[in-house]
Amino acid sequence: MSPSTFQKNILCIGAGYVGGPTMAMIAAKCPQYKITVVDINPDRIAAWQTDHLPIYEPGLLEIVKQARGRNLFFSTEINRHIQEADIIFVSVNTPTKTFGEGAGKTADLQYWEKTARDILKASDSDKIIVEKSTLPVRTAAALERILHSNEKGIHFDIISNPEFLAEGTAVNDLLSPDRVLIGSRETEHGLKARQEIVDIYANWVPWERIITSNIWSSELSKLVANAFLAQRISSINSISALCEKTEASVSEVAYAIGQDSRIGSKFLNASVGFGGSCFKKDILNLVYIAESYGLFEVAEYWEQVVRMNEYQEHRFVRTMIAALFNTVSTKRLALFGFAFKADTGDTREAPAIYITRKLVEERAQVVISDPQAIANAKNDLADILSEVSFQQDPYLAAREAHAIAVLTEWNLYKTLDYRRIFQSMLKPAFIFDGRNILDRELLYKIGFNVYSIGRPPLTHFQD
Ligand SMILES: NC(=O)c1ccc[n+]([C@@H]2O[C@H](COP(=O)([O-])OP(=O)(O)OC[C@H]3O[C@@H](n4cnc5c(N)ncnc54)[C@H](O)[C@@H]3O)[C@@H](O)[C@H]2O)c1
Repeated sequence: MSPSTFQKNILCIGAGYVGGPTMAMIAAKCPQYKITVVDINPDRIAAWQTDHLPIYEPGLLEIVKQARGRNLFFSTEINRHIQEADIIFVSVNTPTKTFGEGAGKTADLQYWEKTARDILKASDSDKIIVEKSTLPVRTAAALERILHSNEKGIHFDIISNPEFLAEGTAVNDLLSPDRVLIGSRETEHGLKARQEIVDIYANWVPWERIITSNIWSSELSKLVANAFLAQRISSINSISALCEKTEASVSEVAYAIGQDSRIGSKFLNASVGFGGSCFKKDILNLVYIAESYGLFEVAEYWEQVVRMNEYQEHRFVRTMIAALFNTVSTKRLALFGFAFKADTGDTREAPAIYITRKLVEERAQVVISDPQAIANAKNDLADILSEVSFQQDPYLAAREAHAIAVLTEWNLYKTLDYRRIFQSMLKPAFIFDGRNILDRELLYKIGFNVYSIGRPPLTHFQD
């Protein structure tokens, strides 16, 4: 299809973990549309044009290659592409605000507002603006006010289309989503714009999985989905603490309750805690919104999900220190995994950041290993770089270490030769499995003192 015959020009502002993969999927599935992704970060845009994409995501390069140069383009010319676009997805970051009113809770909407003003300035025709970023409920109202403050007579329709992909499985999540949610104003104009977005996804997503709603329900549903997911993790993690005291096994409890179809078996793995750029940020956002409407009990209820996560991270460090005879000072400790989950290089809010910092405060010699996240780990620890070291090879990381802590559930760590690792370590050797992915009985037989989440430890010491 030649560029002039494209049915629509679709633009995405923000070429990150969401903007890049979502637009690559739309482009791959809809050759009739021209898709352009723009960003203020020229390095990111340059990387999207190579085979070394700026984010690690299994299967993504193949999808990008299907469409890149055909109907998928990356650019830093934001204004020109705004002007040409019929539909603009906005997928810029919405981190937690770090200053002023609502600091530490509400979303920092400065990138959003700047984008809205860029759109307003560069537009000279009607457009549909799609909220792809996760936003506080009722952001669309503010956006409408900014965009309709124009004297050019241009009409903008605002659509909420939150993204539910998970890093590490983004390609599959986009290819076969549980649902796509599209919210709009329920006016004649709004419903027409909603249909245009439905028509994009209908190219590959079955109709019954495309859900439509009013715009506020759509905005709120994204925050609530993340709050519920994180709540399950905090719930099972709270029980893991109790299991460690009572000789119950959290995996057995999770299995037993998960067989109840009302509860379901997914997202019940106890761990060192959840990370990622979204869960904490989105819950705190929900908390702030509830508080701002005077719903203090609602706010407190959800805030506890974040507190329980912090408690789980603290508890993990405390367990390590206590097991290592109440001091980790000068001890070599190998961290297996730094990414917040497997199959991504993303380390935003990773429990490993807190755990590393705490162990360094205790003067441990921390060695960080991860197959994809070392570059990001170095940025996260920029202020203490001289106090940690990095070693991609887990065998070398563990050599002469007192202990290993598994912090990311990479498959790689399940298949290592732990006999060889044990032989190379100082004795007594410890392993702290923060993801419950290792065969603890086998490790114990090899000679390790094994600490799992939600199970009493297996140690070779007589109390
Ligand atoms: N990462 C996830 O798994 C995930 C999943 C669902 C939803 N979300 C939401 O999607 C949004 C984006 O998240 P992300 O992880 O892709 O963030 P990201 O930081 O990876 O990407 C955002 C990009 O926007 C660019 N940007 C910022 N301001 C800009 C501007 N004015 N003009 C052009 N580009 C600009 C940044 O340079 C950056 O490359 C957030 O609201 C997030 O909550 C993220």
